[in-house]
Amino acid sequence: MKGVTVIDHPLVQHKLTIMRNKQTSTAGFRRLLREISLLLGYEVTRELELTSTRIDTPLQPMDAPTLEGKKLVFASVLRAGNGLLEGLLDLVPAARVAHVGLYRDHDTLEAVEYFFKAPSDLADRLVIVVDPMLATANSAIAAIDKLKERGATNLRFLCLLAAPEGIERFNAAHPDVPIFTAAIDERLNEKGYIVPGLGDAGDRMYGTK
Ligand code: URA
Repeated sequence: MKGVTVIDHPLVQHKLTIMRNKQTSTAGFRRLLREISLLLGYEVTRELELTSTRIDTPLQPMDAPTLEGKKLVFASVLRAGNGLLEGLLDLVPAARVAHVGLYRDHDTLEAVEYFFKAPSDLADRLVIVVDPMLATANSAIAAIDKLKERGATNLRFLCLLAAPEGIERFNAAHPDVPIFTAAIDERLNEKGYIVPGLGDAGDRMYGTK
C-alpha cells in the first residue's frame, strides 16, 4: 500500500498476537506495548541522518557517527499514544515530546481537540506522531493538521494496527507523511473499530471500560 511500511519483524508479530488475545491482562498488554514500541522505534528511526564527531576512545582519537540536526519530537495522541511514547523515550531519551489531546465523539467518530502542547520550533525537527490504532484516521489527520499549523514539515506516523480505510483517508489528507505500522487489518466495523484488531487500545492499556 502507498506510503506504508509494515514492520513484519517476527518478534513484533509474536508480541502483537499476544496483545490481540483478549485473555491478555492489562499488565501484560502494557508491558508488551512498551516492548513492541522499542522494535517499532528502531524501524521508524532507521533513516535518521548521521554526522560525525571527534572523540577520544581509551586507545586513540576517532571520527565517530552521531545523530545530525535538532532533537526529534515524539508527538503522542492522547491517551493511547502514551503507551508507545514510553518505549520510544527509552530509545531516544533526548527527544522532545508533544501531546495532542483528542477524543473520538462516539456518535460522529470525529476527533475533538481538548489539549495541545508542543515544542515551539517544530519546523526544524523530525516529528514522529504516535497512536496505536489508525482506524478512521480522524484523530491522526487532526493531530497532523495541528502540528503542521504549528510549523512541522517533516513528519512520520507510527501505529500498531491500521485499517485499509484509515490508510486511504490518511494518505489523501497527508500524502507527504509516511505511515509505519506492525499490521494492516481487514477493515473497520460499523462502530469504527479495527477488526480483527485488539479492541480499544486505551482501555486495554489502562484497564478501563
Ligand atoms: N481505537 C481503538 O482503540 N481501537 C480500534 O479498534 C479503533 C480505534
